[in-house]
Amino acid sequence: MNWSAEAPANIALIKYMGKSADNIPLNPSLSFTLDKFKTRVEFDLLEGANQDEWDASQNINEADQVRFLKHLSFLKETFGIKENFRVRSQNDFPSHCGLASSASSFAALTLCAAKAASELKGADFTDPTKVNLLSRKGSGSSCRSFFKPFALWDVEGARPIELCGIKFLHQVVVVDAARKEISSSEAHKRVLTSRLWNGRPERARNRLEKLVEALKHNSWKDAYEITWDEFWDMHELFETSAPSFGYMKDSSQRVLKLVRELWNTEGDGPLVTMDAGPNVHLLYREDQRELCNQFRIQKLGDYVVLGEGER
Ligand code: PMV
Repeated sequence: MNWSAEAPANIALIKYMGKSADNIPLNPSLSFTLDKFKTRVEFDLLEGANQDEWDASQNINEADQVRFLKHLSFLKETFGIKENFRVRSQNDFPSHCGLASSASSFAALTLCAAKAASELKGADFTDPTKVNLLSRKGSGSSCRSFFKPFALWDVEGARPIELCGIKFLHQVVVVDAARKEISSSEAHKRVLTSRLWNGRPERARNRLEKLVEALKHNSWKDAYEITWDEFWDMHELFETSAPSFGYMKDSSQRVLKLVRELWNTEGDGPLVTMDAGPNVHLLYREDQRELCNQFRIQKLGDYVVLGEGER
């Protein structure tokens, strides 16, 4: 017997940064689901084995293997699964560089375990309103990957949220695909030492309310300014932590400058945000498709751009 599940990554517009035990967020967050950035997880049932194992074809570092299998143990215990599995996990995009691969990996792993449990136990365990809560324990941001196009996550769990009829086009400018040196788990701890931490959950909450209003009323420029302030807030927390750290590169700054110039000259442009990494995410409205293509070709020509109009 075997099972498989796919789950997408997501990019936060209002960030989850700072958490208490079991990945309970210190502030609510809002994300856009990245349908083109997926992880696929597969399980083969292992007859007669006494533990789960990775498929030999997998090239995954040891710390990641341990974290993944630990979450699988938690899921098996929760679902009452006694059987063991051979596990495979494959991303269709670069991992660990701020493209939210832990969100898609843990969401896909949780869903795959829920599918296996459903068949082995003869009951449906795949309800996303419940599964997201389990996924959160493996990686907080993964709980938002169960809903689209937008997900809102607060202490009660993640859920879909209606924001606007606009279809978003997503691009990520990959200025560096190397593995990041400071993991997001470490970032969550360090930001609490920042001199700028004071008031952070309230700032995020206020921006969330304003962003929801802006998107509901199609106030695109307001949405751009709010998301701009929000990712800078998170990166400033990184830079002012003790010890200080950061992900921003000269090349990230060059891309941000291009976006700012576009807004300053045209009075319009994409929303822009960055995760805990050096890469820059751009979100366009569907009616900006031409701008999206032109900007990529004329201004971002030297960079690798994934997502809409990929190259
Ligand atoms: O899910 P984690 O623990 O890897 O946290 C990641 C949090 C950020 O990606 C930096 C921001 C977010 O809200 O996705």
